[in-house]
Amino acid sequence: MTAVGIDAIEIWTGKLTLNLPETFAPVKGEDPAKYTKGLGLETSSFPDVYEDIVTMGANAAKRLMDRRGLTPDDIGRIDVATESAFDNSKPVSTYIAGCLEQTYEGDFRHANKGERKFACVAGTQSIDDAYNWIKAGRNRGRAALVIATDTALYARGDPGEATQGAGAVAMLIDEEPSVVELSTEQGYGSMDETDFLKPNQQFPSVDGKRSMQVYLARMREALEDYESVAGRTKVEDFEYIPFHTPFPGMVRKAGLLGYRHMIRDTEKEDELADRIGRQPREADFDSWDDYEEAIRAYMDDLKETDEYREWYGRVIDPTLSLARRVGNWYTGSVHVARTSALKHAYETGKAMTGKQLLVGSYGSGAQAEIHAETVREGWRDEIEALNVDEQLAGRYDLDFEEYEQVHDAHNHEKDVELEEFTQPANEFVFTGWGRMNERK
Ligand code: HMG
Repeated sequence: MTAVGIDAIEIWTGKLTLNLPETFAPVKGEDPAKYTKGLGLETSSFPDVYEDIVTMGANAAKRLMDRRGLTPDDIGRIDVATESAFDNSKPVSTYIAGCLEQTYEGDFRHANKGERKFACVAGTQSIDDAYNWIKAGRNRGRAALVIATDTALYARGDPGEATQGAGAVAMLIDEEPSVVELSTEQGYGSMDETDFLKPNQQFPSVDGKRSMQVYLARMREALEDYESVAGRTKVEDFEYIPFHTPFPGMVRKAGLLGYRHMIRDTEKEDELADRIGRQPREADFDSWDDYEEAIRAYMDDLKETDEYREWYGRVIDPTLSLARRVGNWYTGSVHVARTSALKHAYETGKAMTGKQLLVGSYGSGAQAEIHAETVREGWRDEIEALNVDEQLAGRYDLDFEEYEQVHDAHNHEKDVELEEFTQPANEFVFTGWGRMNERK
């Protein structure tokens, strides 16, 4: 069977940055450690005034196409995943295709274009759509371009404000891919939830604490569903486990839950039993509350064990290094986590070809999806080609007043004229709602 998966990746960050411990914390009257240690964030990315979801997505896609020597004729499908769309009719992919067509001879006249929405899980769903299109043999030898692009902004003063971010991830989905092959097996955990939503509003209404519980519950269900088709997962099976990362502290909780699930009834659980006992079994308790309390106590002990710490440091922590510096990119977030993991492998000289990743995507509203990926031979060249460190280092560092101005400039309800902080350099720039963007 032909392998299908991610053949190329490019990342485009918003060009501004806000330092959470140094700039945000003092104004909010918070201990900087709340952001760095609690949420796990250092800085976030923001779009400059000439950037939006279209320009960031088009710039990521342009880099990808140029690097791989592609023309529009090579692409049979463009799907954009976003929860920051500004047009209820015309999909963002048409705006992005319009940008790209300004720079290539051909056009995307015969490509299928669309827009996917299901909060942050839509990026992975778009990859799924591309995978199915290729597997069904409808692609006529062409690849699919999937672009996950968002400006993840919260209302000022919302607890989510600290987790903001903006950027795009462009991915080429193709046969015999260079980076990872996707597993046929998938698991879902999906329920109608109202903890994070944007009904006809730009900024989300969020019940932050509940959203964390929903994330963990749906992720656990997705893992169980995945195991029902792929067989039991074990901690030894996966080199990295990239999760959707609204902020690294969330993934710390998901990682612990995943570890507990994966060691259940294994030698690892036996090994730990002498020190922390066996995992509580629901059948042994009279009430759910007692069972939950026992689980919490077990988890508290588990996270202090050397075995768990070593696993977390090796398998989960490397997936968070970019998120710490960019914040939540919503649809792009889990793809940033996978990139972080592979970047870590590249920088530490790890042999990855043939190794497995377990990828946990999540979108509020709510749905989690879990699948496995097998790393392919070309992964190293793809990761080497990224210039993400350069991009992050080149961001303009906002002071708090400037941050507020930028936030206002990106608030659709406000009419704010603001000078740009950085200079566009041979890239697409925003020229007004519904208008053709320009390359400057
Ligand atoms: P908060 O209530 O301001 O923060 O906002 P907190 O008081 O809960 O503190 C956060 C953590 O910092 C806690 O850690 C504190 O203990 C710790 P925890 O106990 O949870 O492990 N802390 C400190 N640590 C060290 N030193 C200190 C200190 N002070 C506190 N001095 C909240 C947190 C997540 C609620 C907020 O950021 C929020 O509402 N965020 C937006 C919603 C969100 O991200 N939810 C995540 C799950 S839903 C999801 O992922 C989907 C999403 O991406 C959207 C989509 O799918 O479209 C959001």
